[in-house]
Amino acid sequence: ASLAEPLSLADYADLARAALGPAAWDFIAGGAGEERTLTANTAAFERLRLRPRVLAGLAEAETATEVLGGRWTAPLGVAPMAYHTLAHHEGELATVRAAGAAGLPVVVSTFAGRPFEELAAAAQAPLWLQVYCFRDREVTRRLIERAERAGFAALVLTVDAPRLGRRPRDQRNGFRLPPHVVPANLPAVAPGHYAAPAEHGRAALDPALDWSVLPWLRSVSRLPLLLKGVLTAEDAARAVASGVDGLVVSNHGGRQLDGAPATLDALREVTAGAAGRCPILLDGGVRRGADILAALSLGADAVLVGRPVLHGLAADGQRGVAGVLGILVDELREAMHLTGTPHPAAAGPWLVAPGTTPPP
Ligand code: FNR
Repeated sequence: ASLAEPLSLADYADLARAALGPAAWDFIAGGAGEERTLTANTAAFERLRLRPRVLAGLAEAETATEVLGGRWTAPLGVAPMAYHTLAHHEGELATVRAAGAAGLPVVVSTFAGRPFEELAAAAQAPLWLQVYCFRDREVTRRLIERAERAGFAALVLTVDAPRLGRRPRDQRNGFRLPPHVVPANLPAVAPGHYAAPAEHGRAALDPALDWSVLPWLRSVSRLPLLLKGVLTAEDAARAVASGVDGLVVSNHGGRQLDGAPATLDALREVTAGAAGRCPILLDGGVRRGADILAALSLGADAVLVGRPVLHGLAADGQRGVAGVLGILVDELREAMHLTGTPHPAAAGPWLVAPGTTPPP
């Protein structure tokens, strides 16, 4: 595809829409129910305004940051998403190469389309494993052991999906994955077994997961453990009391509970619940560098970005992902410089204009 030099994440979304068929586009873009939470995620960032401090004397802002002992070029990573092979034939391999060249981590989905070993061999930055807990715990145990053996650096247990949210776009489209799109790290089964993500999820994932899964995971792996999908102070407090190593404030990109708050709006209560006892990441609706700075200002240590990475991948493979991540880091550096923020840890609530985000 010839590219008219995409300049923003919105440009990449337009290119991806043209490159993907309508049903694949809907699967990636869509959310649960009436998509109120999906819309709220981006709206929360759009309504927020930053308070720049001038004459800060910075030659350039420094974006590098450390998360769970790993050094990242910027407080930014790739959120776990199933089947990058739906967007591009190289799938996660292209994503991991682009992110690694940029010095940014990737959270690899349980439903990745490429084998962990191949991704680990190509990685130049940390890989974390996103864990879904299957009814058959042995499947989960083998998945974790395989990732740990390949050199993955952390586990991210997704806790907002005891069942998969109803996604009307997929229902209307009768969406099924093409035959070449299969989970490369799960047991091989009959053709078509995994083709309908909602049905497969219903049959295979444990709907009754509770807090006892945490000691079980600790018995299976010594990797740091994060919970993804925490939106309340109560759960954040319980999670840190249970000894988790990090939290991801997430509503699954508006794909699970339609009616859940925007992640930016939930961030303050989660950071209050965690009381500084573990790093806090956020995903959902991050579409520009200023959004990253906004999340840092309200208490996040880093953010993850989801759909825009698949847009880059669909538009132009590894180069497209590099383009998306490069734009975000450049925009973040610009927003930091223009607000007088020398490094990520220097961001704070004073950067956020009152009345442009909910009161504490
Ligand atoms: C996801 N997400 C997701 N989360 C997860 O824990 N495991 C998974 O396998 C997937 N799969 C997945 C597929 C697709 C196509 C999308 C769009 C999302 C959710 C993802 O990790 C993240 O929470 C959101 O995508 C973040 O929101 P944005 O950046 O897409 O707005």
